[in-house]
Order: sequence, then structure tokens, then C-alpha cells
Amino acid sequence: MLREILQILKDVGFDELIVERLQEVKKEKLRRLEEINQEIHRCVKCELHKGRNKAVLGEGNPFSNIMFIGEAPGEEEDLQGRPFVGKAGQLLTQAIERAGSRREEVYIANINKCRPPENRQPTIQEQEACLPFLERQIEIVNPKVLCLLGATAYRGILKTQPKITQERGKVLDFRGRTVFITYHPAYVLRNPTEKETFFRDIKMAIELAI
Ligand code: URA
Repeated sequence: MLREILQILKDVGFDELIVERLQEVKKEKLRRLEEINQEIHRCVKCELHKGRNKAVLGEGNPFSNIMFIGEAPGEEEDLQGRPFVGKAGQLLTQAIERAGSRREEVYIANINKCRPPENRQPTIQEQEACLPFLERQIEIVNPKVLCLLGATAYRGILKTQPKITQERGKVLDFRGRTVFITYHPAYVLRNPTEKETFFRDIKMAIELAI
């Protein structure tokens, strides 16, 4: 998408220097994200490293105005090294597309970078050990909106234990960013009557980021 925007800017005679500067900024963002990627693959700050195949940094547009934050990689994510590529991920991708966007246009990350055994919820100590990586990702991508998917993402960012059915749909102001709260897509898979609500929520989160 950035390449297309840059081409359009060039075509309308936009200053070449500004276009070049944007390309430099993109390169620098990608370099800093790759630096974190190298670190998480070497990380031994918590027990979760023992069971990982691949640590999962996150992926997407480094200029995105929205970052979706989940809990931790599952089996498929651990094998592929990519976030949200299993069944829950397919539902998230579907919701993003239904909202008129694409996975490549947004940024997707998790609180924890390594898969917990049996997909259990990461402990608070494990979450806290991993959070500095996410905080750096947020600083680099610099999204306007953080869309928190479920209770672990909520706790990781906002530091209180939510009742997610009460919190979903809320829009908060957090350190200069907009935080939007919705269900984790795995919850929606277990509670299919919530699917339309989830789709509406993802659309609203994306609209908040425009
Ligand atoms: N669940 C998550 O929270 N994150 C993923 O990347 C996959 C499943």
C-alpha cells in the first residue's frame, strides 16, 4: 500500500525528497522491528521459551493507524512464526475484510511472543516479562488505535483484570492513544452468537483509526 501511495505522490509531482524521506522512515521502522524479532528469538526471560518452535513478533503495515493485540501464539502461530493464522486468526482476518480493510493494511501483535503450553493463558509474570517488546512495537508503529482482543490483551495494557463481556465496545483514552475493547476471536468461535457483534466491533475499531 505504501508503494502505491508513494507512486501516486510522485505522479502528482510531490517533492521527491519527501517521498525519499518516507521510504527512509519505512526502512528504519522495519529495521527496528527486525531488531526486536532477533531479540525475541533469543529471549529466555520466562519459562515459555522452553516450549517454543518460533517466537511470534507480529506482522503488518509498520505505518498502520491500528494495532490489534491478542494474547499469545497458538499451535499454528508457533509453527509458522506469524500471528493469528489458526482458526481464531481466520475469523479475525474475515472481520478485518468485512470492515473493508486487509490484514496487510493493519498491524497484528500479541502480549506474549511464545506459545504457552496447551494454549493456557500466560501468567501475569510471563505477560510482564514479555511486555517491553510490545511496548517497543507500539512506539515504532505508533498507531492511533490499539484494539484489545480479549482479557489478556486488556490486562497487559490496562493492568486491571476485566470482565470482558462488560468492557467490550468501550473506547478509552490511554497515553494519547485510543483503546478499543472487544472479544478475543477464540471466544467468538466458542460463542458464535457473538459473531456479528465482533464483526461490528472490528469495523468500529478500524473506523476510529481513520
Ligand atoms: N491467539 C492469539 O491471541 N494470538 C495469536 O496470534 C493466535 C491466537
